[in-house]
Order: sequence, then C-alpha cells, then structure tokens
Amino acid sequence: MAEVVIVENAAAAGALVATEIVELIDRRPDAVLGLATGSTPLPVYLALRTQLAGHDVSQVRGFALDEYVGIDPAHPESYRSVITREVVEPLGLDPRRIHVPNGAEATIQHAGDDYEAAIAAAGGVDLQILGIGTDGHIGFNEPGSSFASQTRVKTLTEQTREDNARFFDSIDDVPRHCITQGLGTILKARHLVLLAFGEGKAQAVADAVEGPLTAFLPGSAIQLHPHATVVVDEAAASRLRLADYYRYTFANKPSWQGI
Ligand code: F6R
Repeated sequence: MAEVVIVENAAAAGALVATEIVELIDRRPDAVLGLATGSTPLPVYLALRTQLAGHDVSQVRGFALDEYVGIDPAHPESYRSVITREVVEPLGLDPRRIHVPNGAEATIQHAGDDYEAAIAAAGGVDLQILGIGTDGHIGFNEPGSSFASQTRVKTLTEQTREDNARFFDSIDDVPRHCITQGLGTILKARHLVLLAFGEGKAQAVADAVEGPLTAFLPGSAIQLHPHATVVVDEAAASRLRLADYYRYTFANKPSWQGI
C-alpha cells in the first residue's frame, strides 16, 4: 500500500516533498520531475524556491501531467502558463527541458503519442507529483479511466469544471476537454507523491488509499505502485481508518529512509 504521511499543514507537506526533490536532483542532476498543476502542489513549488537555492538545476527536466484542449497557451490559466509562472521561472529551470502536453486542436490527434514518446525518450519520470480531484481523478483521468490508459484526450466531468471554475472568470470559460497523462503513464513513474489538503479531499483520499481498486476511483491506481507516498494534512486524513498506524509508522521510520 502507499505510505501515508500525515503532516500539520500544507507548508509542512511542501517542505517535506521539496526536501525529497532536492535530494533527487543532487543525486541525479538531470532528474525528470512529473509536475502537477492546480492549487495542491503550490506549497511544494514554494518550498523549492528556498530549498533549491545554490543547487544546480540547469539539467533538470520536467513533464506536466495535463493541459486543457483548445486553450490559448498564453492564457494565464493554461497549464503551460501555470507551469512557467509557478515552476520554471521561480526555480530557474531551463524552459526547453520542461514539457507540457500540446492542447492545440490542430495536432491533438497525435499529441498523446508524441507526449508518450517524449517521456520515454527522457528515460521516464523519476518523481511524479500528484494532486487528487474531489471525484478521485489524478491527472485529468476522470472516473472510469482505464488503469492502462496512456496520454490522451479526456472529457472533463461537470464536477471538475465546477471545481476549476475558480481559476476562470466563469464556468463557461472552463474548457470541456483536456489532454492528460494516462493512469498507465503515471504508474510508470518511479516514485509517486500524492498530496491533498482540506476536508473536501478527505473522502477521495480515503477511497484512493484504503478503498477497493477501481477505475471508478482513478486515484486508487496508486495502490498498484511499488513506491507511492501520500502526504496529507489532518483534515484530508480525517476519513482514513488506519490514520493512527500511519502516524506510528512515520514516527518510527528509520532515519536513512526518505519518503
Ligand atoms: C492538475 C491535475 C489534477 C489536480 C486536481 C486537484 O495537473 O492533474 O489532478 O491535481 O484536480 O486540483 P487542486 O489541486 O486544484 O485541488
């Protein structure tokens, strides 16, 4: 099962995951990071601004999880813009090494295959950061997504469009389609780190970590992964049945083990 780490707040989660990423980059300067967007990973990116200072990031590579289809890449809420604003610029990464799925309608038919090929050519993702939707999606793999799915176009659920409307002027501006790494793509990453904060994510986290393995709850796919870490605050952990065991396990973890 996934290792669950319950922390005090989002800032503590950000610091913990950032430390793991810095150690990875020190070990492997051309590390391949899997980058999530949305609000959940922001504390990680914020902590990295401080923790990466003085470290060589010139070789670091990255692949975003997803992108809206048909959105202007220059739109402030395109995931291309978000990754540039929140990750590439503040961390001083080389923009040529950071990839985002191409959501342009003209080339969308082969954009998924192109992205899979680019990830494979990079040797795969070392550490994949994940958030989780209130409906259990990871990436934009909505309920029903195959555990074997690869990067492809998906239709967003109305719930996801409503959840994401906060980033746009109105829900009418939220695209209906996206291009997302598949669950099969995500499962190929060498380390999955899923973060979640707040009561609104508690059920999705409990279902993903302790519920049955089902395509109806895409986040449950992490149970198939040999190295998955789930970092949550108390509110997001509030429906976990084994919360005390996770606390005990982490408190007694050998110091030589990272997350
Ligand atoms: C974003 C992504 C999504 C989000 C999820 C949670 O790249 O892949 O799975 O992680 O929708 O969004 P937030 O973090 O905004 O609650």
